Amino acid sequence: MQNMKILLLGNTGQLGWELERSLASLGQVIATDYPAINLAEPHSILPLLRQVSPQIIVNATAYTAVDRAESEAELAQAVNAHTPGLLAAEAKRLDAVFIHYSTDYVFDGHKGSPYNEDDQPNPLGVYGQSKLAGEHAVLNEGGAALVLRTSWVYSLRRDSFVTKVLSWARQQQTLRLVSDQISGPTWARQLAEITALLLAKAGPDPTGYLAERAGLYHLAGSGCCSRLEWGQEILRLDPHPEEQLTEEILPALTADFPTPAQRPLFSALDCSCFTQTFGLRLPEWQDALRLAMEAL
Ligand SMILES: NC(=O)c1ccc[n+]([C@@H]2O[C@H](COP(=O)([O-])OP(=O)(O)OC[C@H]3O[C@@H](n4cnc5c(N)ncnc54)[C@H](OP(=O)(O)O)[C@@H]3O)[C@@H](O)[C@H]2O)c1
Repeated sequence: MQNMKILLLGNTGQLGWELERSLASLGQVIATDYPAINLAEPHSILPLLRQVSPQIIVNATAYTAVDRAESEAELAQAVNAHTPGLLAAEAKRLDAVFIHYSTDYVFDGHKGSPYNEDDQPNPLGVYGQSKLAGEHAVLNEGGAALVLRTSWVYSLRRDSFVTKVLSWARQQQTLRLVSDQISGPTWARQLAEITALLLAKAGPDPTGYLAERAGLYHLAGSGCCSRLEWGQEILRLDPHPEEQLTEEILPALTADFPTPAQRPLFSALDCSCFTQTFGLRLPEWQDALRLAMEAL
């Protein structure tokens, strides 16, 4: 594995930043991000692929502005679907592995129990639609590609639900958090680490190994919770509780906070297929959160 050349796209995002570190022990990581590459303009990136000629391409870029996507559908579609499809085609031509990430927002949230890979997607907004189109674009190329669908990704170094709750708690006596949105919080660091672990398992011929296992997998923190429960746990684990002004956390409804994009109310993912295939799983979301908060 030592001489693997790994091209990482999107290394300043929540997940990409962690991937640059987790992938480092597998080989030479060539990392790049916007504006050096712009997935809205494929010609800014395809020559780089040919020049680097990596064995592994990991795409952590995405248009993730869920609400803004409602008015920027074309851009979301280009970044999340059209260009990933071109990248997957180029990866296949180079005989390289292509790893791509997708979202629980491809579902409408009506199922009421954790979604598996066979459940019918029905995105409620433009972001989810563009990510679903990206899944198809990548997988239709038929190479050694994995699409890892994840949910509620957070890191402590960029704006995320966790950093927002910590900051609100330092400004507001009463916090109102929605209790009717449920999914699985996923720590970006552990998602990066499990990506590296599965590539390590692939051994010296990652393309051969992953060609046999190519496809779509759900991969999120184990268990699920509402945003209210997540927020309560964040404040409980806050290493500096003396800085908190919040005296009460009240449940609210999604309908109380109208947003341009509709979000699925229940989008927890059943990740058993990933575990059966790769023998790996992400920890319970509370354990992950504790470890993440200890790193603060
Ligand atoms: N965040 C979540 O809750 C969540 C949930 C489910 C699935 N996911 C998926 O997980 C993956 C990683 O998400 P994340 O949370 O790490 O996202 P993120 O923090 O928003 O990072 C996305 C990265 O893509 C870059 N990017 C945006 N537009 C680009 C463009 N036109 N060309 C090149 N790069 C561009 C961003 O650069 P700038 O920062 O400069 O814009 C950023 O570095 C994505 O596939 C996402 O859809 C995320």
